[in-house]
Amino acid sequence: MIRSVVRGFGAALPKRVMTNREMEEVVDTTDEWIVQRTGIHQRYIAGEGETTVTLGTAAAKAALENAGLTADDIDLVLVATSTPDNTFPATAVDIQNRLGMTHGYAFDMQAVCTGFVYAMATADLHIRGGLAKRALVIGAETFSRILDWNDRTTCVLFGDGAGALVLEAQEGEGTIADRGILTSRLRSDGSHKEKLFVDGGPSSTGTVGHLRMEGREVFKHAVGMITDVIEGAFEATGTTADDLDWLVPHQANRRIIDGSAKKLGIPSEKVVVTVDLHGNTSAASIPLALSVACADGRIKKGDLVMLEAMGGGFTWGALLVRW
Ligand code: UT7
Repeated sequence: MIRSVVRGFGAALPKRVMTNREMEEVVDTTDEWIVQRTGIHQRYIAGEGETTVTLGTAAAKAALENAGLTADDIDLVLVATSTPDNTFPATAVDIQNRLGMTHGYAFDMQAVCTGFVYAMATADLHIRGGLAKRALVIGAETFSRILDWNDRTTCVLFGDGAGALVLEAQEGEGTIADRGILTSRLRSDGSHKEKLFVDGGPSSTGTVGHLRMEGREVFKHAVGMITDVIEGAFEATGTTADDLDWLVPHQANRRIIDGSAKKLGIPSEKVVVTVDLHGNTSAASIPLALSVACADGRIKKGDLVMLEAMGGGFTWGALLVRW
């Protein structure tokens, strides 16, 4: 059977780092509060000329180079983002063009912080369905542009960045020893819309709008939803937390990450945490964390890796992959 195997990774961050101390100049907050409640020490903020498209393109180029491939080898460009450069065309099509591709196809995926998990699951279906042999799956965001910089309950949490993986069709045996995506679990429940949303849009206000969040309400649901889909992925593959080499969670809050890992019995040494460096970069957080842990040699070929995310919608999901 065909499996979607990870062949390369890449990341891109804006030039400017913004520390918690700098945040103290913007809103009534403290480094201590931010670190204690979230684990965030700094985030990257896009400057002039840096956009979701430019960051996504840079991450895609890095992933191609890491894979030893060129854009000619790619059939599908799939971008998870909630902060596109334009309402349309899709960010993915813009990136496809900047990579010099006039072949293949490209589209965007909108599932907010769960976007990268949704995009990986979707690319996997396109690869296993024979539509594409190789896919660039990108998570790219510039949340700094939709933040209300007067709202201390949200503006301290988010950052900008992009990460990308190259997926490739390879023959597998159909067992969990195969390399590639082994299973995915996707969920959503729109009854939670008001807890995390952007208060604008082309069809409602004709404006871009700002991010609004009832943080405590999101927090209350996060651990239960995350552990539910991870347990579903374990069950579907006959694996357990003991088989896992790495948990690479969406990086929203250190307390959510620790709480989920503890509930699942996954030791903290097996959890990749980058929220301290990047803040919450929504759909970019998982590929950014993966890039860090692959580049420093933690995640190796053959490792069993669980990806998970939860965010606006609510949407949530998990994906189990043999690296
Ligand atoms: O990626 C998408 C998913 N999003 C998330 O997963 C976010 C989920 N939520 C969270 O991570 C947490 O709820 C937050 C980090 C947003 C907030 O942490 P919390 O422990 O739930 O704090 P809280 O909202 O209950 O606020 C506690 C206090 C409040 O003061 P009072 O009412 O107790 O006097 C806030 O006004 O902290 C205050 N506060 C702040 N203080 C200093 C809120 N924001 C700040 C701030 N600096 N930036």
